[in-house]
Amino acid sequence: MVLEKFNLTGKVCIITGGAGFLGKKHAEAILESDGIPVILDINENKINEAVDSLKKQYKKEVVGYNVDITKKSEILKVKNRILENFSRIDVLINNAANNPKIEEKENLKNWTHFENFPESIWNQDLNVGLKGAFFCSQVFGKVMAENKKGVILNISSDLGIIAPDQRIYLKNSLKDEEQFKKPVTYSVVKYALIGLTKYLATYWADKSIRVNAICPGGVFNNQDKDFVAKLTNLIPMGRMADPDEYKAAILFLVSDASSYMTGSTIIIDGGRTCW
Ligand SMILES: NC(=O)c1ccc[n+]([C@@H]2O[C@H](COP(=O)([O-])OP(=O)(O)OC[C@H]3O[C@@H](n4cnc5c(N)ncnc54)[C@H](O)[C@@H]3O)[C@@H](O)[C@H]2O)c1
Repeated sequence: MVLEKFNLTGKVCIITGGAGFLGKKHAEAILESDGIPVILDINENKINEAVDSLKKQYKKEVVGYNVDITKKSEILKVKNRILENFSRIDVLINNAANNPKIEEKENLKNWTHFENFPESIWNQDLNVGLKGAFFCSQVFGKVMAENKKGVILNISSDLGIIAPDQRIYLKNSLKDEEQFKKPVTYSVVKYALIGLTKYLATYWADKSIRVNAICPGGVFNNQDKDFVAKLTNLIPMGRMADPDEYKAAILFLVSDASSYMTGSTIIIDGGRTCW
């Protein structure tokens, strides 16, 4: 039966940044197929809130650990705790990333402009989005390689396929030098995750670890109306994604439903990258 292939019963599925906006949705997808989500996040309050609400909603096991994925020593410690609790690791979703909002870091005037982009923010963004994925794949992938089975899913973006269209971030009220730009680090991290996906897919193919990437388009989350109008104008389907619209693809990619798929990138973006 084809639906059985989506079943994750008893499978331990790690989600980095799992207490965030989409991380919780990945956890829901796993719970809805009877897997066990293990949320790794750096924000204690958000972890508690996510674990409590998921447990309440699904009445199933969910765990969360406070870990900074930019520190390998912390990941190694949490790996031991996960193995003590569950004796297995089946799935890793590299989801955590910095996603700077327009209103943040106003003290650094036009810090988002490439010409001025601070080395410190370059380091922070690459540390979370890329080094974090590297460390987690190293530590949890090693366990999977020893067991000769596992799945790694890297969360890239439509901006891992195309360049950001900086015009959608423009605000009429601001002077040129005050405008927000989508940071260069976002493109660099999201393209690099596709490279990491292909590297690990081939590197660990003989250990039966499948490694794929998903490139979601922007999710509607009450963004500014003017921004939404400009973005949706770039999307053939004429709208942003609903937060639940990636769950089926996540489940497909982390389960045996995608058993012949590795090194691939699935783009789900309402058609944006066609234009
Ligand atoms: N939201 C979207 O529209 C969208 C679209 C395309 C791709 N994505 C990608 O999906 C992923 C999730 O996005 P989101 O919107 O849920 O973001 P989010 O900011 O809500 O979640 C990111 C989570 O990562 C955690 N985190 C940050 N640094 C960490 C660290 N050092 N160690 C552990 N955890 C850390 C944060 O605490 C946060 O909970 C990101 O990779 C993002 O680029 C999002």
